[in-house]
Amino acid sequence: MTLDQLGYLDQDALRSPYPVYEELREEGVHYEKSVNAYVVSSNALVTEVLRSPDRFSSANTVGNPVAPPGTPDDPAALSPLLLLSDDPIHAQRRSVVARSFTPRQVGSWEEPVRKLVSDRIASLASLPDVDIVRDVAKPLPIRVITWVLGIPDEDVAGFREWSEVITSNVGAHTRDDPSVVEKVRADFSAYLYDILTEHAADPKDDILTQVAQTDLMEYQKVRFVAEMLVAGNITTTHHISSSVMLLAKNDDVRDALREDRSLIPRFVEESLRLEPPIQGFYRLALHDTELGGMAIPEGSRVFVLYASANHDDDMWGDNGQAIDLTRTNGSAHLAFGIGAHTCLGAPLARLEGRLVIESLIDQVETIELLVDPDEVTYAPSFINHGLATLPVRLAFR
Ligand code: HEM
Repeated sequence: MTLDQLGYLDQDALRSPYPVYEELREEGVHYEKSVNAYVVSSNALVTEVLRSPDRFSSANTVGNPVAPPGTPDDPAALSPLLLLSDDPIHAQRRSVVARSFTPRQVGSWEEPVRKLVSDRIASLASLPDVDIVRDVAKPLPIRVITWVLGIPDEDVAGFREWSEVITSNVGAHTRDDPSVVEKVRADFSAYLYDILTEHAADPKDDILTQVAQTDLMEYQKVRFVAEMLVAGNITTTHHISSSVMLLAKNDDVRDALREDRSLIPRFVEESLRLEPPIQGFYRLALHDTELGGMAIPEGSRVFVLYASANHDDDMWGDNGQAIDLTRTNGSAHLAFGIGAHTCLGAPLARLEGRLVIESLIDQVETIELLVDPDEVTYAPSFINHGLATLPVRLAFR
């Protein structure tokens, strides 16, 4: 199987694209028509690309075929400001919010987030049936990121749907109706514009105010906030549900975590490594260059597969496909990327992931999967990797 076939995804490939990635690593860097890009799959070369912004740009990478350089931004598009820009502009923009997402700052949110998570898990006991995706992994991240940004509680309900529609076309093969997507984008932009205007007029101690007070253009401020809302949403949803599935499938791991809770962060890293919510992303060659022996012409697109790097035996050894709570390099995976564009929200995603597992370990005796792991359904995208549903039976302690 090739990435080309993966592009027309059957559910088996979506569930486990890793055998395909192994073949891609054996093949080395090569051009794949389906993604209009040179595919990069080894840990060493993915790292090289991400660490070489002087050769591989983050700007102008999305679109198939690639938009010609200089194509003006479409203000209505809500396309990300950080993810798709290069330094020095990227670094200036990132510095507006970087101090709000340091591990230390995020650590100060632990208790309120723990309460949100713990109440959510406790509430499952009263449900007639539990779907981890529907009842935990979807509602939690949007609740947390809106709270972190400073969005009023009463406005949270609409955000999940907006965010899902906006990301529905990323790497996807079943596309939402473009007119629906446009309408959602317009509503979302209008809402963010109003709330930023309010925060500029009446400053508060929150991230919306930080963005409102920058000298970005108004539409750029909207895009900035939209980026944080959207980037931190479906990704964290997918991580939470994948990690719960790994826990449910591995009783020995569950017992080890119960025995020694200090292993929980290691489990979180292993779940990110083994099931990266973003499988890969793009860069653009700034000039003729060479990668793994392959000539890459200026202007071509490169698709870096974080997920393949995370399964590369050269990095992870013979047991790279298994959960190993004793790894000393466990957090060196590329699920959050590496280099200048390393995920801004990684400390927050790690916090949420850890608190979900801690709450389950504390409150629940067993998690029984009500679906065969070989038949669970995944979202139809080769970039966003995550479960569509995860029905379980929980025995509360
Ligand atoms: C498990 C959850 C998450 C995963 C797997 C994830 C993954 C990633 C990856 C791989 C990148 C780098 C893309 C590149 O190399 O170009 C990235 C960037 C980013 N992420 Fe996350 N993310 C997660 C959660 C979050 C959260 C909670 C936020 C909330 C603020 C967030 C905000 C961002 C932003 C703003 C960027 C762009 C950073 C830049 O370009 O400087 N992410 N994320």
